[in-house]
This record gives sequence, C-alpha cells and structure tokens, in this order.
Amino acid sequence: NTISADKVFSMAQYYNRLQCVMAIFFPMAVTFASEASVTIKRLEQFLRMEENHPLPIQPLTIVNQAIRMKEVNASWTNDSIANTLHDINMKIETGKLCAIVGPVGCGKSSLIQLLLGELRASHGHVIVNGTMSYASQEPWLFTGSVRNNILFGQPYDEQRYREVVRACSLVKDFVQLPQGDKTLVGERGTSLSGGQRARINLARAVYRKAEIYLFDDPLSAVDTHVGKSLFEGCFKEYLSGKTRLLVTHQVQYLKNVDHIVMLNNGVIEKQGRYEDFKPEDFK
Ligand SMILES: Nc1ncnc2c1ncn2[C@@H]1O[C@H](COP(=O)(O)OP(=O)(O)O)[C@@H](O)[C@H]1O
Ligand SMILES: [Mg+2]
Repeated sequence: NTISADKVFSMAQYYNRLQCVMAIFFPMAVTFASEASVTIKRLEQFLRMEENHPLPIQPLTIVNQAIRMKEVNASWTNDSIANTLHDINMKIETGKLCAIVGPVGCGKSSLIQLLLGELRASHGHVIVNGTMSYASQEPWLFTGSVRNNILFGQPYDEQRYREVVRACSLVKDFVQLPQGDKTLVGERGTSLSGGQRARINLARAVYRKAEIYLFDDPLSAVDTHVGKSLFEGCFKEYLSGKTRLLVTHQVQYLKNVDHIVMLNNGVIEKQGRYEDFKPEDFK
C-alpha cells in the first residue's frame, strides 16, 4: 500500500471525471428529461384540441349588410352558468363605422372574437359578409424591422404604405427612430413606447386590404391628440367606405360614428345612432 505518483495521478483523474459526470451532466440530463416530458405533454394537449372551424363567409341574402347576428349566445367555457355573450342581435350595414362601448369585461373583445370565429356561437347565427382585418387589444410585434411588422408578409406598395403610415400618425415616430422604419423592433430590437407599439399594430391591420376592419380598443394606449388624429385621419378618412367596428372607451368620438352598440354584462343594453342615446348613458 504505497502511494506513488502514478497511482495518485490516475486516481485524481478518475475522480475528476466522475465529479464532472455526477455534478454537472447527470443533473443536466434530469432537468432536460423533465422539460422534455412537460413539452411533450403540452404538444399532446395541443394536438388533441378540438378543431376550430373558421366561420364560413356566406353571401347575404339581404344586401348592404356586412355583419348580421341573430339571437347569438356564446361562451368561452362549456361548463359556465352564464354566457359570455347573451342574445346578441345586431346588423351592421356595409361601409358604416360602428362603435362598441361598455365597461371592462362586458364582452367587447369576445364579440370581436365571435366574428373572427375564435369563439363559437352556441345558439343563433353569425353572418359575416366580406374579408376581415383585425387589430388586437394587446399590441404585439415580432423581431424584425418596423416596416416588416406593418407589411406582415404583404407585398410592399409604396403609396399605400405611405398613406397608412400617415393615417396612423407614425411619420413623426419614424423620424425619431434611429433607422426610421428599418429600425429593428421586437424582442431583441429597440424598445418602443406603448403608443408606438399600438400604432404599429394598428397600421398592420389597416395596411391589409379587407372589406371589414375590426379594431379592439386602439385608442386607449395613445394620448388625446394622437387619438383624435387617428380617429379623424384613419378611421373616418382613410378607411371611409369600409365597414369598421371600433371598440373604444373614448366617448367623445361617439357622435361621429354611424352606429353605437352598448354592451353590459354580455348583453346589448342599447344600440342605435348617437341621437338615440342620452348623454348620461355614457357615464
Ligand atoms: N380568450 C379567452 N378565453 C377565455 N375567456 C375569455 C377570453 N377572452 C375573454 N374571456 C372572458 O370573457 C369575459 C369578457 O371579456 P372581454 O370580452 O375581454 O371583455 P372586454 O373586452 O369588454 O373588456 C371575461 O369574463 C373574460 O374573462
Ligand atoms: Mg377587451
């Protein structure tokens, strides 16, 4: 039992290797294995989900109506007692600007999801007559240039692009950004203000050619005078002639829309023209 250099050296090497494997690689393998099993479970769950059939676009028997809902009930979960939306009846004429108002959580976004076919009607009919373009309530950007975020795969049409940028009040922002509309945004890019993100998100929906435009609360993230220029320049002027649905909390614009739908707790409390409402209805 003598200790010699060759024995010490080889034992030390042996324990080094063993330590590496036991202290680093083995725990790593355990972590990866558990992550993989969670991932597989999630993928399995996703693949087993029920198919979501998009709403068929049906030609309307009644002309001049872009959207028609009749006695619609809809719910996000099958087992809830109350419907998210209950007994919705509405008609929106082609080319009109319609505002949807109501308190938080009353089902405004759900109504838009219903039109997009994300939420299924459990009762009644939803008829949409035309192609749709949608701007979500939560603005989202992918990693890429501002321009690509607006084009979103559509071909670049310089004139249309310029008009959309102007309508969405982005001209000044492009001057401020380090590389104009070629500035990289998204996860690893320049961080933008909430108002800028909201307007890029809006510009993406406006740039897309469609017959019906759905805007989910685009005016809440911008300040008053930008909001005013968006309403005038974009919704009223640039998109005039298109059917537009605008979810908003800004009651000062309601007198300039063609139709107002007031939701409360998932039911339509009142709808009609601005003149049909009393000022205290909007409190
Ligand atoms: N994607 C969703 N999945 C499940 N429930 C939802 C979803 N979106 C909204 N809800 C529920 O529907 C109800 C109405 O919400 P929402 O339509 O977002 O209201 P609003 O846009 O008017 O603030 C809420 O109770 C909310 O929890
Ligand atoms: Mg909402």
